[in-house]
Amino acid sequence: MIADINPAAAKTVAVELQERGLSALAVTVDVSDEGQIVSMVEAAVSEFGGLDLLHNNAALLGPEVISRDLAIVDLDAELFAQVLRVNVTGYLLSAKHAIPHMLERGGGVIINTSSAAGVLAELIRPMYGTSKAAIIGLTRNIATQYGRQGIRSVAIAPGIILTPAVAATVPAKMQSALLRHSLVPRPGQPEDIAYTVAFLMSDEAAFITGVTIPVDGGLTVHFPSYAEELDAQSGTTPEFLVSAGDASPITPGTSHIHEGLQPKEM
Ligand SMILES: NC(=O)c1ccc[n+]([C@@H]2O[C@H](COP(=O)([O-])OP(=O)(O)OC[C@H]3O[C@@H](n4cnc5c(N)ncnc54)[C@H](O)[C@@H]3O)[C@@H](O)[C@H]2O)c1
Repeated sequence: MIADINPAAAKTVAVELQERGLSALAVTVDVSDEGQIVSMVEAAVSEFGGLDLLHNNAALLGPEVISRDLAIVDLDAELFAQVLRVNVTGYLLSAKHAIPHMLERGGGVIINTSSAAGVLAELIRPMYGTSKAAIIGLTRNIATQYGRQGIRSVAIAPGIILTPAVAATVPAKMQSALLRHSLVPRPGQPEDIAYTVAFLMSDEAAFITGVTIPVDGGLTVHFPSYAEELDAQSGTTPEFLVSAGDASPITPGTSHIHEGLQPKEM
């Protein structure tokens, strides 16, 4: 079941799935309204006979919100409350109403979409980043309370994924600044997220719970000076990382295994 506040978007996805021979239902839901969440869960149970998997993925990302999510000294408390209602409370309440159905069936999986911005801070979007950090805590708590009853919960932390929302709200300059720090030299695609979620929901991921999985092309694993060091070396590996007796530098984006690769004495 695809549930979204935007009925046309939910329907488009459901139709795509139906065209691939899968059964899919689109429903309209505003996750800031608990009554609508109850109806969404009931619709899933009555259509499919039960509920095993939940992916909380909604977020307030419209320009009307992001353009007001700048300096902390200027933030509006009501707007922050609205961001939290969708980005955090919506996830909590969806889990609240899904869990009893999962328990009836002996367990289930709840995936929550956080963000690299929930793991690290940016200079902008403090409300968004704070909401995404809260999701990491919510995920740990769901996993801890219900793990022994067969429910796993995992958060994912995407880096920059080229969705229409990103194209519309993240300035091109910021997109390229983030890409300079990506170890996989391309923007993320929605499929990168979908494949990860499909795996985490599967039985093959049965031993993974409570954690946050980065899906960010390596954006968050290195020192902040990464891009500057590459620039200084014109895109090649810094000279001090070339192994003794091997003058060939390692080019980022290609696969190298250098036996005995040692930092040169400096
Ligand atoms: N695209 C990225 O680079 C990126 C990076 C990190 C995290 N994320 C996260 O991934 C998720 C999907 O983002 P996206 O880029 O596809 O953006 P998107 O705007 O296309 O997706 C968000 C969806 O949430 C829906 N939504 C908004 N308010 C809602 C409400 N009250 N009730 C129900 N649905 C509501 C929107 O209609 C939209 O379909 C979000 O949680 C976002 O924070 C995205």
